[in-house]
Amino acid sequence: MIITLIGYMGAGKSIIAKELEKIKKYKKIDLDFEISQKIGMEIPEIFEKRGELFFRKIERELLVKILSEENNIILSTGGGTPCYYDNIDLINKNSVSVYLRTKVMTLAERLIPEKENRPLISKISEENLAEFIGQHLFERNQFYNKASIIVDTDNLTPIEIGAKILKEIEKKYQV
Ligand code: S3P
Repeated sequence: MIITLIGYMGAGKSIIAKELEKIKKYKKIDLDFEISQKIGMEIPEIFEKRGELFFRKIERELLVKILSEENNIILSTGGGTPCYYDNIDLINKNSVSVYLRTKVMTLAERLIPEKENRPLISKISEENLAEFIGQHLFERNQFYNKASIIVDTDNLTPIEIGAKILKEIEKKYQV
């Protein structure tokens, strides 16, 4: 089984992937990390030097490769991954998708200190960030909401979220 975590920047996909790796003893693959390795640049540098379209193309290529070649993994995606090409359908066909749903205010609080490393929000001022996220989430929710499992993450610890995800998977797939 492949468990794919999707959700907005700051939803905790990487941290929860680490938790699931521990509990489930599956290998963790981080799509942003794989992209960085392949191109030999950090994500902000790829956006700056090669542009977002190039990034989305490589993101798609690696997603197809991982979903077709790997098994028994936790796949942590980037916030935009399910929103381009037919990525969300591909994810749903080849894995159990989990949307980590997080409130706008929680995302904004978490993202303010890390803004500079995230090319899509680095130029948004702190005071406009929550409004930007609200609008962006509204556009992206049509993709995120296609996930097989949706887990609300506000006020829960990574351990609790990890346990909740596995419980939901067991309930839905009897595994
Ligand atoms: C993006 C989210 C980032 C990274 C890139 C684009 C997005 O990943 O893939 O900066 O479109 O939301 P995280 O969600 O891990 O920050």
